[in-house]
Formats: sequence, C-alpha cells, structure tokens
Amino acid sequence: MFTTILMFVLSYLIGSLVPGFWVGKIFYHKDIRDEGSGNIGTTNSFRVLGIRAGITVLALDMLKGTAAGLLPLLFHSSINPMLVGIGAILGHTFSIWIGFKGGKAVATSAGVLLAYNPIFFIIIISIFVILLSISSMVSLSSMISFSCAVLISLYYHDWILTIVATILTIFVFYRHRTNISRIRNGTESTIPFGWYYNH
Ligand code: G3P
Repeated sequence: MFTTILMFVLSYLIGSLVPGFWVGKIFYHKDIRDEGSGNIGTTNSFRVLGIRAGITVLALDMLKGTAAGLLPLLFHSSINPMLVGIGAILGHTFSIWIGFKGGKAVATSAGVLLAYNPIFFIIIISIFVILLSISSMVSLSSMISFSCAVLISLYYHDWILTIVATILTIFVFYRHRTNISRIRNGTESTIPFGWYYNH
C-alpha cells in the first residue's frame, strides 16, 4: 500500500512539472498563460513560442506521462501503469507550481499510454495525425482521438484500460470546453498546416 501511495505521489509531482511555462519564462521571457489560448501545453507553446519550443514542450510533457507510467516497473509493483499515470495527468492539469492550474491532459496522457502499450499509442497517434491533417484543429483532433481510444480499447479486453480511457476522455472534453465553444462558433484556431485546406 505504501509503495502504491508513494508511486502515485511521485507520479503527481512528475506531472506537476510545467515545461511550457518554464521554457516560456526562461528562454523567451514570456508567460504563455497571458498569450494565445493561455494554456501551458504543447499547442500554445507552438503558437506563442515557436516550433523549437513547441517540440521541446511536447517531448517533455509526454515524457512526464511515460516516466510516471514506468514507475511500477521501477518499484517492482504489479499495479497497472495506467492507474499510476493518472497521478501525472492530474499533476499536469492541477500543477503545484502554478496555483493548481495547468494543461488539458493531452500530451501527458499520450505519454502514459506510450509506457503502457506502445502499439496502442502508435494507433492513436496515427488517428490524431490524420484528424489533424484534415481539421487543422489540435483540440478537435485530440478529443476525437481520445474517443477513438475508448472504442479501440475494447479490442484489448483490458477493462482497466477501457475505464481509464473513458474517464480521461470525459476529462479531456471537460478541459476543452472553451475550445468546444470556439469550434461551435467557428473561431477555434487552426495550425499553419491547415492553410492548405483553408485557402
Ligand atoms: O493540448 C491542448 C490542445 O488540445 C488545445 O490547446 O492551446 O489550442 O487550447 P489550445
């Protein structure tokens, strides 16, 4: 029990790290919470800080989830990595470093999935890339990819995976409620890749 609680606390602390906020502050002297969508995640890092910062934040936000998902291996514990990973996802969205605010759970959840089931991860990322190339909206592509993850998880007959994926999907939709309003108004931002489709 002690090991389980320790892993969950460590997972939360790892997830609490805020690369988007720190990269912006340290290297660009910007607070990304004041610009773009105000989110501290990957998309807003690309938007506000540029491609190099965006790639760095994506890698670090995902790494947080992967590191958390690997904790059971490190502690020789049989607990499901997806359950431990929830700590990191909560840390990412309610970070101790920025007043229990944070990101929208996308990249860190992907990192947890990478640690748990790399094949499933590749399937979901492929779906995400296809959706992004069609819609140019990271938010929409993220929400649909999470929904697909729930459906595809049924194929694995792994009820913990399906339950965690379902809870995360609901949570991701909740975290994207401002994006959902913008999508409905037709004002959601699109990435430059979408230029080809929009012009
Ligand atoms: O990863 C978050 C993404 O889905 C949306 O981010 O900054 O466009 O609200 P943003």
